[in-house]
Amino acid sequence: MNNRFRRLRAFKTLRKMTAETALTSHDLVQPFFVIEGKGKKQAIDAMPGIHRFSKDLLLKELDAYVKAGGKAGLFFGIPSQKDLKAASAVDPKGIVPQAVKAIKKHFPDFLVITDVCLCAYMSHGHCGVVQNGKIDNDKSLPILAQSALVHAQAGADIVAPSDMMDFRIAVLRNKLEKAGLVDTCILSYAAKYASAFYGPFRDAAHSAPEFGDRKTYQMDPANSREALKEARQDIKEGADMVMVKPALAYLDIVSLLRRELTVPIVAYNVSGEYSMVKAAAKNGWVNEKTIVLEILTSMKRAGADIIISYHAKDVLQKFL
Ligand code: PBG
Repeated sequence: MNNRFRRLRAFKTLRKMTAETALTSHDLVQPFFVIEGKGKKQAIDAMPGIHRFSKDLLLKELDAYVKAGGKAGLFFGIPSQKDLKAASAVDPKGIVPQAVKAIKKHFPDFLVITDVCLCAYMSHGHCGVVQNGKIDNDKSLPILAQSALVHAQAGADIVAPSDMMDFRIAVLRNKLEKAGLVDTCILSYAAKYASAFYGPFRDAAHSAPEFGDRKTYQMDPANSREALKEARQDIKEGADMVMVKPALAYLDIVSLLRRELTVPIVAYNVSGEYSMVKAAAKNGWVNEKTIVLEILTSMKRAGADIIISYHAKDVLQKFL
């Protein structure tokens, strides 16, 4: 009867020394939105503190992020030209390849992850080619692979396909191998759910679908076995890491994949999760610092090796 659990909680240093989970700068990835032009920094209404940057100002922002201890970024391109072929997604001089080249020149040690998808490049806003009102899986694959290739050729360390087409990891891996880019990692958005938590992102990236929704390619929030099926398949096809997205309402999935798989697991703390915290904090309803650290720590505790979060900069600059 001498098991007093409070002994280990009584002293701050001891609490820290016995903590089972710790959040560090190497766990975090900050997303960045890149636009064309010069001298541009656009605020995103639903995501206070997050902006779209033209390449020149992106480098300034990165400088501040790296100085705060930032190690990695996930880059989204928002092109001015959209069409039915996603032509700017495969342009070697496109927005992402240009940004990646500049980032790698100025910050060679910064880990560059690029989002590979067509939704921001297609005039209809879907993640693949639309044929007769449907999203055509196999016609989308060569465009996705070409897009990943131009990112990798520009120097991206990791390409991260978020489209949820079947077989895209195999096609991407093949394309990279054939081009001799054997060291480029693939982070698969493997368990990506059709989620209302992406709302603010679609405003930020101008990528809301013009018709219908993404339920024929993104996963049903009711399913967990399917996440394992998706992740196992992507690993077989050549993914180095797999992602669960969104994160907070899907910590059971993070935990499931961590237990069943050996590859690194990435959790994406998405735009809606960020905006809810920001809105509540602005109203004084929650304490931002404590709630952000609690949320991100819970993702690590669930088994995430890496967390992609819009809070990353604040965490490194102010909260840790
Ligand atoms: C593109 C993509 C989306 C997100 C990342 N990549 C949006 C979507 O699938 O509609 C969401 C990110 C976020 O909400 O922070 N396919």
